[in-house]
Parts: sequence; structure tokens; C-alpha cells
Amino acid sequence: MSDSRETGRHAFVVGYPVKHSRSPLIHGYWLRQFGIEGSYRTVEVTEADFPVFLERLRDGSSGYSGGNVTIPHKERAVRLADRPDALSEELGAANTLWVEDGLVHSTNTDGLGFLANLDERKPGWDCFDKAVVLGAGGASRAIIQALRNRGFDEIHVVNRTVERAEELADRFGKRVFAHPMGALAEVLTGAGLFVNTTSLGMHGTPIPDFPLERLKADATVTDIVYVPLVTPLLLQAERHGLATVDGLGMLLHQAVPGFEKWFGRLPQVTPELRALVIADM
Ligand code: ATR
Repeated sequence: MSDSRETGRHAFVVGYPVKHSRSPLIHGYWLRQFGIEGSYRTVEVTEADFPVFLERLRDGSSGYSGGNVTIPHKERAVRLADRPDALSEELGAANTLWVEDGLVHSTNTDGLGFLANLDERKPGWDCFDKAVVLGAGGASRAIIQALRNRGFDEIHVVNRTVERAEELADRFGKRVFAHPMGALAEVLTGAGLFVNTTSLGMHGTPIPDFPLERLKADATVTDIVYVPLVTPLLLQAERHGLATVDGLGMLLHQAVPGFEKWFGRLPQVTPELRALVIADM
């Protein structure tokens, strides 16, 4: 990227490792669709080199308009950004950076992607007061924030290590409650949404039977795991006659705000894009 003869706008996904990212496929599709002269590429940067990478983004010498941030740089990206927005600051993690007037801005679009996926595939999914989130890692945090901002009155976090759920309940305040796994049946009772934010069921590995009959009959079950597209949890939910939404749309929708910032066009999550990513899985 130091080649100043290169024209157009350029964006990155920076991480270590970063080879398996599907983001280049998504942004490459939109770049072609709009006929934009530009690129989106993976950049492997170690933790030691990350501050220099950000400095070169800030001073313009890298040639990038911005990009995505993934493991292990998400937390440090917020701390090093000049203008972290309220979402990334509250989460303590950013997945999207852009430069404006020589200042690095950060946000986190995971929660927005989560909501947009459900809004697209199951309109009305949010008409309930009570949601249950399984897991207490980084993805869970963004989803809890999104559900709280959407107006859920009770967000129950169930986690194998209950202390991590308690940390999130403390962090988010009075509408978020922590529970051990053993409380799942009780917690699911009367809930209108159940979300798996853990890696349980990834690549089709078996999962325990969840007492999904406790959910409201018109509840929605969703998974952030999207390989396979129909996960063991979603299969269980289908057997209970519940509405299901797969997690692929979250990945696609979380990419929208970044593309708009870097390339100046608002992209759409189309069936063609979905099919392209599925074909690559
Ligand atoms: P991410 O940032 O992707 O959310 P993470 O921070 O490693 O990833 O969090 C993974 C989550 O999946 C945690 O809630 C983890 O539970 P613990 O906090 O008890 O480790 C959960 N998880 C992973 N494997 C699990 C399993 N086999 N059973 C139950 N929970 C699991």
C-alpha cells in the first residue's frame, strides 16, 4: 500500500491471523457491484506492530480509508482510536475504523448486524420483553448492548462460567441478569428470544437438548454460529415449531456501515451475496 501510484479507495481487515476472514468476499462483491475502483484486503499485523499500523492509517501514509479489526486487536483499537463512538467505547471493543480529518474513528457494528439480520428475516421478532442470551464472550456483549438499546426489559445471560455472566450484568446494569447453565429451563420460561453466542454446535458438533418448550410459542431462536447454516440449535428449535433465524445475515449486515464509510456508497445484503458466501463455506 505504499505505492502512491495506486488509485481509488482502499480498506483492510487487520488481525493476526486473518487468512480465514470472509470479509474480502463480501466487500469485493460490493466493490464490483458498484464498479468502484478500490480494494479490500487482509493485513496480518502482530500485536507489537499494531500501534504503528494505526499511526500510518492516521497520517494517511498507508493509503487506507479505514477497515475492519479482528482478533487480537479489537480492544486495543478502541483505546488507540482518537474518536471511539459510544457503542465501541461502552463495549471496549471495535470492529470498524475510519479516518476523518486525520483522526481515527472507531465503532462496533456487531450489534447492528445482529438486529438487522433479525429485522430482515423475522419482522416483529422484538415484540417481547424478555430475551435469553447463551454465552458471555465478546459477541455476547455486543448482542446484549443491542438488545438493551432495542428496548428489551429483561436480558438474561446464561453462561457455563457464571462469573463472566455476572461481570456483564454488572457492566450493563439493571436490565441484564446473570445465571448459571443449571437455571436455563427456568430462565427460558416465557422468553421471546433465545440467542446462542457460544461456539456450541459449530461445524455440526452435538449440543445438549435445550428446554426450548419453555419459550413462548411465537418466540424466535437464533445462532451466531453459521457453519453449518442450520445449526444443531436451529434444528432443535424447528422440531419445537419455533421460528428460527440463521447467523449468516449478522456477518453480512455488520459489514454494511464500514463499506459506506470507506467507499461512500450504501450497500445492500442481497440474496446473491448470501449465496456467494454460502458457496464459499
Ligand atoms: P467470543 O468473543 O467469540 O464471544 P469468547 O470470548 O471466547 O468468544 O466466548 C466464548 C463463549 O462461549 C463463552 O461464553 C464460553 O463460556 P465460558 O465463559 O464458560 O468459557 C462459551 N463456550 C464455549 N464453549 C462452550 C461449551 N462447550 N459449552 C458452553 N459454553 C461454551
